[in-house]
Amino acid sequence: MSNVLVETKNLKKYFPHRLGMVHAVDDVSLTIREGETLGVVGESGCGKSTLGRAILRLHEPTSGDVLYDGKSIIGLKSREFRPFQTKMQMVFQDPYSSLDPRMSVFDLVADPLRICKTVPKAQLPEKVSETMELCGLPATYNNVYPHEMDGGRRQRVGLARALVLDPKFIVCDEPVSALDVSIQAQILNLLMDMQEQRKLAYMFITHDLCVVRHISNDIMVMYMGQVVEYAKKEEIFAHQAHPYTKALLSAIPTTDLSRRNRERHVLKGEVSNPINPKPGCRFAPRCPYATAKCSEPQPLVEIAPNHFVACHECSKG
Ligand SMILES: Nc1ncnc2c1ncn2[C@@H]1O[C@H](COP(=O)(O)OP(=O)(O)O)[C@@H](O)[C@H]1O
Ligand code: SF4
Ligand SMILES: [Mg+2]
Repeated sequence: MSNVLVETKNLKKYFPHRLGMVHAVDDVSLTIREGETLGVVGESGCGKSTLGRAILRLHEPTSGDVLYDGKSIIGLKSREFRPFQTKMQMVFQDPYSSLDPRMSVFDLVADPLRICKTVPKAQLPEKVSETMELCGLPATYNNVYPHEMDGGRRQRVGLARALVLDPKFIVCDEPVSALDVSIQAQILNLLMDMQEQRKLAYMFITHDLCVVRHISNDIMVMYMGQVVEYAKKEEIFAHQAHPYTKALLSAIPTTDLSRRNRERHVLKGEVSNPINPKPGCRFAPRCPYATAKCSEPQPLVEIAPNHFVACHECSKG
């Protein structure tokens, strides 16, 4: 088994709100190994992006710890943190809003190198060209601007900007959600090729379970800032236990006729904001199996080797 590269321990990120505190990420502990992908799934607003940003310290965590290669990066001063910053990058959902429209492709890819100074100035053009080429952007794109490209090409630029720093870990925050289906596969394949070549670790955030099935080793399901289920991908797809995971999975369209009549767990209602949440299960207002016991805290329990679920009903022996 490869080395653990990124870990969080009881990570929390709360935002102040006029009605109290938004518990956007609430006590999340996870592990990502070198060369592997953790898929993070859940409906919009469940805290996926905040988790990714807190790991990279784009949001300073409220409490808890983040370890990179066994070393805590929380509390490091900016000079001490800089070497870790280049190793941990992010690819965003909407490449258009994350790219400066006044910069050419060459300058956009060179920009992180100019800021972080990870290669000598003389080697910068070669490093940029090599990374662009790797991401399917030949030299003819050097003087092209973001508005002159389609979404797929812009996402290639977003990926090149991350890869040019030779990171070991990338948070991919819904990197294909805004793209046409035909282009999604190209970008996913590029991400997977890069992972294989460079032993990259990914945290892949998505609400699309088909994508997560394609790309992940492990899957973490989040609901209102908390982890409700966490296991190997195969285990989640074969033996999902939490009612919320079941509802998410049963919503996946299938062409398999034998599975067409499978039990459906339709989700009713919407996720509410996790402002000053009560101690019990946050899924209870939407859960068809809720009982009085669900108003007690629901810790993650290991129901099978490395399969964790936060629901007393699922963890009964
Ligand atoms: N900068 C912020 N300030 C205040 N609240 C925020 C901020 N960013 C996110 N939130 C809140 O945190 C919760 C989680 O948001 P987010 O991480 O964006 O979810 P997701 O990526 O799963 O859609 C939401 O309730 C959202 O409104
Ligand atoms: S703890 Fe209760 S409300 Fe929550 S998922 Fe389990 S049965 Fe449903
Ligand atoms: Mg998000």
